[in-house]
Amino acid sequence: MRLKDKVAIITGSSRGIGRATAILFAKEGAKVVINCKERVDKAEEVLDEIGKENGIVVKADVSAEEGAKQLICEAVKQFGRIDILINNAGEILRPGDWNSDVETWQKTLDTNLTSAWLMIREVAPVMLKQKSGSIVNLTSTVGLLGSQFVLAYGVSKLGVVNITKSMAKELAPDIRVNAVAPSNVMTDMTKGAGDALIEKFKQATPLKRIADPEELAKAILFLASDEASYITGEMLVVDGGYSLK
Ligand SMILES: NC(=O)c1ccc[n+]([C@@H]2O[C@H](COP(=O)([O-])OP(=O)(O)OC[C@H]3O[C@@H](n4cnc5c(N)ncnc54)[C@H](OP(=O)(O)O)[C@@H]3O)[C@@H](O)[C@H]2O)c1
Repeated sequence: MRLKDKVAIITGSSRGIGRATAILFAKEGAKVVINCKERVDKAEEVLDEIGKENGIVVKADVSAEEGAKQLICEAVKQFGRIDILINNAGEILRPGDWNSDVETWQKTLDTNLTSAWLMIREVAPVMLKQKSGSIVNLTSTVGLLGSQFVLAYGVSKLGVVNITKSMAKELAPDIRVNAVAPSNVMTDMTKGAGDALIEKFKQATPLKRIADPEELAKAILFLASDEASYITGEMLVVDGGYSLK
């Protein structure tokens, strides 16, 4: 087991990639802090699947300072330490176009970018005291390539790349910080794009399919675990070749 007795917080793990990661981490021996913003029912389903002895559910909005603090506090209270943080919570808010409104722009940045910074700011003192820790942030090929209709989201995800590299330098040598960049993964987020766009994504992907959340979970596990012990500040693109020129 690659995460035996490790304590892992996975933000946004009630659904999608976070859910698949929580299940895989528990199979690898971790105690998992499952987090959601609203869907406690879905988070409880994940806890049922991994077994109540292997985790807890914490409802907290990680885009807000008090939510991030609450999540860290409850994890430490329950398990006494935090070995792994996966900054996975994210959302594409509509309308996401370049000429959208300030409120949607700000909320998109708060949800996808500020959340990652807040969670790292709050977890770092715990990990620094332990003299160990591993952080994986979810970015996106949209942040690297640019895209139509999701400007604020793309900007937020490029910001996550900078947080990854900057914090890898800030928190070394005891804490590693890496990122995973998916293109299209079959989750509620992608389903929201509609069938026509999903087909377009498939055709634009050399592997001719959309990723399963479990395929992202494996990449996240690799970077979070000691198997990646000499990797920090790195971004692993998991996109079926989508961003190849
Ligand atoms: N799906 C893709 O194709 C794709 C591609 C590239 C990158 N990504 C990135 O991968 C990550 C996961 O995406 P996904 O597709 O798995 O998403 P998803 O299926 O839509 O699930 C989103 C998760 O994030 C949680 N969440 C959203 N805002 C939150 C907040 N403020 N505080 C706490 N939790 C919050 C949701 O909680 P509730 O259930 O309570 O709403 C849910 O658990 C995101 O960062 C996303 O940007 C996804």
